[in-house]
Amino acid sequence: MKVDDIKKVLIVGAGTMGQQIAALCVMHGLQVNLYDIKKEFLDNGMEKINKLLGYFVKHRFITEDKRSAACKRITPYDSLEKAGADVDIVSESIPEDPKLKGQVFGKLNAICPERTIFTTNTSTLLPSMFAADTGRPERFAALHFHDTRVTTIVDVMPHPGTSKETIAFVRDFAIRIGQTPIMMERESMGYVFNFMLVNWHEAALTLAANGVASIEDIDRSWMGVTRMPIGPFGMMDDIGLQTVWKINDNMARATKDPQQIRNTEFVKKYVDQGFLGVKTKKGFYEYPNPKYKNPDFIRG
Ligand SMILES: NC(=O)c1ccc[n+]([C@@H]2O[C@H](COP(=O)([O-])OP(=O)(O)OC[C@H]3O[C@@H](n4cnc5c(N)ncnc54)[C@H](O)[C@@H]3O)[C@@H](O)[C@H]2O)c1
Repeated sequence: MKVDDIKKVLIVGAGTMGQQIAALCVMHGLQVNLYDIKKEFLDNGMEKINKLLGYFVKHRFITEDKRSAACKRITPYDSLEKAGADVDIVSESIPEDPKLKGQVFGKLNAICPERTIFTTNTSTLLPSMFAADTGRPERFAALHFHDTRVTTIVDVMPHPGTSKETIAFVRDFAIRIGQTPIMMERESMGYVFNFMLVNWHEAALTLAANGVASIEDIDRSWMGVTRMPIGPFGMMDDIGLQTVWKINDNMARATKDPQQIRNTEFVKKYVDQGFLGVKTKKGFYEYPNPKYKNPDFIRG
């Protein structure tokens, strides 16, 4: 199958990422079957996709008349059997649990046609953790999206059993839906951008947790030299400190590295007080007017 032959995409999971990927596909003329476990999740997903398309109209990625045509290309399903019956490619965005992902792909293997390519949008797992469960490991790879409203960068990451044809197909699919694929030569936890980002955050947390400099001075240093409008702590507040803590905690448990454990404890103190970042109006900074956005911040 060539990428031009793709007609129908199955999006599994109608949450944050499923909505974004569905919007991209229909904007680029593809039919989407959207599957979730409950009708209410599908209703919510459809409403959010419509809003997302509105965002893309506002930013001139599509025109208003194309928006309604795009919306009509989505069919919601709460039956996996019906949703997967005649699709060319699957994009999975369900919770970050390798067992659950494996089970769902296993079911899809029995439902989908032979030609169907399977992709996972996992953030922190490796596709090899559940490749065997898919029943078609050679036609399975990770296609990982970031926030599609701000970037077109996606990661294409094979596992050792992914065929060359599948890698090329997934790359072409990403391009077909307007994305810029970063082609990974092999599996690596965190893909490309997220790996760099996590290590940048880790360096900033190490400085703060060891009492080397204040949170504000660490951000001031980064912003002052790079001229970026945000530093590592401002960005962690954006992401949400619960998520930052969870990522650090997973790493600390895996490595048992004393510094990583200290960094995890440093973030946990904020999480325990309910200071989760922008979403709770308090994290490392206070919102909606965090100090680092003050024009005089860099001068101190
Ligand atoms: N949120 C992000 O910024 C982001 C970015 C890149 C990748 N990811 C990855 O995408 C995946 C989904 O993340 P999300 O943020 O969209 O989560 P989410 O919680 O917003 O959505 C997950 C959806 O999956 C549904 N679901 C649960 N079990 C299911 C099943 N058995 N079959 C079908 N649907 C099921 C849920 O009802 C929910 O609607 C995760 O693997 C995550 O790591 C997330």
